[in-house]
Amino acid sequence: MTQQIQSILFVCLGNICRSPTAEGVFRAKAQAAGLDLQIDSCGTAGWHIGKSPDPRARATAAGQGYDLNPLRARQVTQSDFEKFDLILAMDQNNLNDLRAIAPCGHPAKLHKFTDILPPDHPMTGADVPDPYYEDNFGEVLALIEEGSDAVLTMIAAP
Ligand code: 4NP
Repeated sequence: MTQQIQSILFVCLGNICRSPTAEGVFRAKAQAAGLDLQIDSCGTAGWHIGKSPDPRARATAAGQGYDLNPLRARQVTQSDFEKFDLILAMDQNNLNDLRAIAPCGHPAKLHKFTDILPPDHPMTGADVPDPYYEDNFGEVLALIEEGSDAVLTMIAAP
């Protein structure tokens, strides 16, 4: 999984809370690391197509220096499975939904975002909680920052 990853897609349900946060955080970290990667996000559902990230997600991210304002929600497409080397789902439902629509031969590039965390991390393999109703945007941002660091470490590993 580590070799030749040049493009990463983060996927959640609505593409207005978790995955745009991951896109913004990971883009900032990749740029800081001097990595030239294609980074994007999308939702499995189409309810919020064209919308900016949730104001709570934008405010929480801005508090840590991440700008989510340019992002707009979109829904996953079949061509995403061709275009991206690594597709990271924010929770098990997102992963199941992606697996259900993935063209034959592409399951290998689908993973849960938290599977990339170190094995001893308490959230390894867990769902990134959905902050849309729970309003726990700070907790979600912190987890996404840790996961993004782990993804960068994996990509940069020799
Ligand atoms: P996200 O959060 O999947 O992290 O963007 C949600 C956003 C919207 C809804 C659910 C989750 N919704 O039901 O509209």
